[in-house]
Amino acid sequence: MDKDHILTEAERFVKDILKNDSSGHDCWHIYRVSRTAKTIAAMEQADSFVCELAALLHDVADEKISQSEEIGLALVKNWLADQQVPLETSAHIVEIISTMSFKGGNRPPMRTLEGKIVQDADRLDAIGAIGIARVFAYSGAKGRAMHDPALPVREQMTQEEYRSGNDTAINHFYEKLLKLKDLMNTDYGKQLAWERHAFMLAYLDHFYAEWEGKSSIR
Ligand code: ADP
Ligand code: NI
Repeated sequence: MDKDHILTEAERFVKDILKNDSSGHDCWHIYRVSRTAKTIAAMEQADSFVCELAALLHDVADEKISQSEEIGLALVKNWLADQQVPLETSAHIVEIISTMSFKGGNRPPMRTLEGKIVQDADRLDAIGAIGIARVFAYSGAKGRAMHDPALPVREQMTQEEYRSGNDTAINHFYEKLLKLKDLMNTDYGKQLAWERHAFMLAYLDHFYAEWEGKSSIR
């Protein structure tokens, strides 16, 4: 099995599937998640090939991209078979992808080290400098405000206020981004998350100071 060749082919396969997507799951998200998964895999002594390949394929079964999770997973399975990836490796990758795209309240935890790594890498892409850029890009695409000091924070909003599109970019930090550091699985994932978390807190400090026309240096 030529691992480098399969990884190159996977990049091409995913690029083709994601080229028509407009939900923010562009191929550069896939690129970043696979780079981060590789970095964590090296630190955690995990199977780097499985981590990188699962990262490259992780969004294919997402309902935002495939008609259904089943169709997306079948596509991945067939592709892995075409590439002559051994059955055991293929089953591992499919397990990672299906657990990650699992919808519903009680997401099962990732079973293997490699799965934990890919999930960490995906979550890391939502925080830090990149995470900040993605939130504002997403909010802008939805026509939402970046910030509105008059609005209550998400926890204090009524369902109606929330649904009517009052969810600003800044709100999303409290709703999701600042919670992600506590959801990391691996030690190195936690370390990267802490760095990125600290950067977001500093960013918010500057944001609020600048909003009021104050100096952000204290
Ligand atoms: P996932 O990659 O886990 O499927 P989502 O599709 O929920 O993530 O989000 C993709 C990106 O858009 C993330 O970076 C996320 O922070 C951002 N995003 C999602 N929902 C909102 C929102 N309501 N406001 C601002 N940004 C959002
Ligand atoms: Ni993703």
